[in-house]
Amino acid sequence: MIAREALSEAERRLGAAGIDTPRVDAELLVAHVLGVSRTGVYADLDAEVEGLEPLLTRRERREPLAYVLGEWGFRRLTLKTDARALVPRPETETVVERALALLAGSPSPRVLDVGVGSGAIALALKDERPDAQVTGVDVSLEALALARENAQRLGLEVELREGDVGDAAAGWDLVVSNPPYVESLAGLQPELEHEPVQALIGAGFHEQLARIARTRFLVLEVGDGQASDVAALLAADGYCDVAVTRDLAGRERVVEGSR
Ligand SMILES: C[S@@+](CC[C@H](N)C(=O)[O-])C[C@H]1O[C@@H](n2cnc3c(N)ncnc32)[C@H](O)[C@@H]1O
Repeated sequence: MIAREALSEAERRLGAAGIDTPRVDAELLVAHVLGVSRTGVYADLDAEVEGLEPLLTRRERREPLAYVLGEWGFRRLTLKTDARALVPRPETETVVERALALLAGSPSPRVLDVGVGSGAIALALKDERPDAQVTGVDVSLEALALARENAQRLGLEVELREGDVGDAAAGWDLVVSNPPYVESLAGLQPELEHEPVQALIGAGFHEQLARIARTRFLVLEVGDGQASDVAALLAADGYCDVAVTRDLAGRERVVEGSR
C-alpha cells in the first residue's frame, strides 16, 4: 500500500474505533513506519508503506498512541514509553514549569519526584536544571526500570530508586509529584485501561505528601476539580504562597506551596 492509501485507510479505521483524532493518529503511525516526521509523510504520498498493520490494530484496540509508537515527547525530551509506566501528559509539563520557576533562585537544589513513572518530571528537571540533584522514587519496579532506560538513553544523571511518600520527609529543596489521583476508570477514555492501575487509581496522596514533606517547595499535579481542596490542605498545613496554575487547556491542574 502507498502512503496516500495508508493514510485514508488508517484514518477510516481509527475513526470507526472511536478515536477523537483519527487523522493525526493515522499520520503519526504512517510517519513512524516510514521513518519520517508527521509532515514528512506528505513529501512522498506514493512511498510504499510496510509494517503498518500491527500498529494500526493495536491503536484500534485503543492502546495509547504513545505505547504503539514506543516514544513520546515531553518538554525538550523524547521519552521511551510502554505499558510499564503512565504516558507523560501535557498537563505534567506545567508541573515542571512551576517547579523550575520556584527553583530559579536556588543553586544546586535537591529535588525529589515521588512516583517517578517513566521519569518524565525528574528527567525534564535535570535536563533544564543540570545543577539540580534529582532523585525519583516509585513503588513500581517496572516503572523504575523504564525510567532508568530513559535516563541512560538521554544521558541524564538522576538517582532512581524504590521508595514512596515517606521519602519526602528526608529534607529537600523541592518535592514534586504527580501521584495517582483517579477514583475510578468508569466513563473515562478506554486508553486508560492499558496504563498501570497503580499509576492512576489512588486517593489521599496529596494530603500525605503535604503532611510528610520536609521541603522548601511542594508542587503537586491534581485531578480536574481537585485544586481548591488541595490548595486548602496546603494552607492548613502551614504552606505559604499557595497557588494554583492552569494547564494549557485552562484547567486547574497544579498546586504549589512554600515553607
Ligand atoms: C500518575 S503516575 C506519574 C508518573 C510520572 N511522574 C508522570 O508524571 O508521568 C504515578 C506514579 O506513582 C507511582 N506510585 C503509586 N503509588 C505510589 C507510592 N505509594 N509511592 C510512590 N510512588 C507510587 C506509580 O507507580 C506511578 O508510577
